[in-house]
Amino acid sequence: MTLLSEPLRLRSGAVLPNRIAKAAMEELLAEPGQLPGDALTALYRRLAAGGAGLLITGHVMIDRRAVAQPGDVVLEQDTPLAPFRDWAAAGQSAGGQVWMQINHPGRVVPKDLARTAWAPSAVPIDVGGLSGMYPTPRAMTALEIDETVERFAVTARRAREAGFDGVEIHAAHGYLLSQFLSPLVNRRDDRWGGGLPNRARLLLDVVAAVRERAGTGFAVAVKLNSADFQRGGFDSDDARDVIKMLADVGADLVELSGGSIESLATAGFPADGRTLAREAYFLALAEQLLATSPLPLMLTGGIRRRAVAQQVIDSGVDVAGVATALAIDPALPGQWLAGRDTGAEPARTRLRNKTLAAAAVQALTSRRLARLGRGKSSRPPYSPAVALVLERLVRGRRRRGYLKWRRPA
Ligand SMILES: Cc1cc2nc3c(=O)[nH]c(=O)nc-3n(C[C@H](O)[C@H](O)[C@H](O)COP(=O)(O)O)c2cc1C
Repeated sequence: MTLLSEPLRLRSGAVLPNRIAKAAMEELLAEPGQLPGDALTALYRRLAAGGAGLLITGHVMIDRRAVAQPGDVVLEQDTPLAPFRDWAAAGQSAGGQVWMQINHPGRVVPKDLARTAWAPSAVPIDVGGLSGMYPTPRAMTALEIDETVERFAVTARRAREAGFDGVEIHAAHGYLLSQFLSPLVNRRDDRWGGGLPNRARLLLDVVAAVRERAGTGFAVAVKLNSADFQRGGFDSDDARDVIKMLADVGADLVELSGGSIESLATAGFPADGRTLAREAYFLALAEQLLATSPLPLMLTGGIRRRAVAQQVIDSGVDVAGVATALAIDPALPGQWLAGRDTGAEPARTRLRNKTLAAAAVQALTSRRLARLGRGKSSRPPYSPAVALVLERLVRGRRRRGYLKWRRPA
């Protein structure tokens, strides 16, 4: 039996001091210039003190023209590194590792942030009544695809220079790399479309470029869907094959998640109606993938109690990833490592519309992170629906700042 407190050595030499990781949560706390600042640094110092062996940051954008939210951090070639050094040091302040998650949203760029969006093909997002929030994307040219590979490599290199121990490349949840993997969104008939090796080409080129540019001794992980939970979408057979391909291009670890903005499986609402276990959503799929995976796997989704984290590790998964529960109580990892059976219950909402309900619960989690970054308790005195309204107000202010900053580029 592997204990939660057992260290894990990765191929690149990185050692995680234990098996509990804080999974990525978009913090929406960027300062002017889309930089990390005091709130993010304070938040990561607090998360580090909680005892997780690994903290993965919320997604950091590789291209200022394409951000998912106006509060997102951006790291490009000319971005000043000092605020990133402070962020990394805060994440490492209790002896754990900190990895920067790096991402391009592809077609998931709201209309009020950019007039156009890139995607493998001109396939619009379908999120029911909210679809109008997103522009119809246009298919990327070969030049734009090459530029994107280069941008991922530059951001990873700079993350290393700032002191991060690794990066996690976001290829899940319906963002750009996951759009390329999906036969529903990727309708190309060139070398990036068609069979799985073609659909995976961009991801594999990104991993290889990041591995080469960031150098040795630096962790390179990938967040991948175990399935998109959409009929005809990326499925668990595809995931099995992609994990093998990732091992060949030098990845250290794969984090398994699931769903996309269109299927909401990450929030426990899969679009195809399959019932998921209430806890450790993707464990059954992960167990199938474990049998063939040449790489260590991390599993994220629904882990909120020590017993579930231990069950995940007992099944052969190498790292238990926890997101929402750590925004509620950042001290959980230390308690779990000490053998205490503590946990955190996520908030519920009575909102009937599933997309809105998921957005409201996520907004409450964002408010919790913001409060932790201000040194307050993580428990806001309001409901998820109120949190959603507040998030929209804050977003409006951040949006004006983002648009003003981006203009010169
Ligand atoms: C507020 C919030 C922001 C998130 N942002 C990201 C992100 O930036 N990148 C990512 O890969 N996943 C993101 N996620 C998804 C989580 O990493 C995780 O996969 C998901 O919440 C399921 O895990 P949980 O049940 O432990 O919360 C986010 C989740 C929440 C609640």
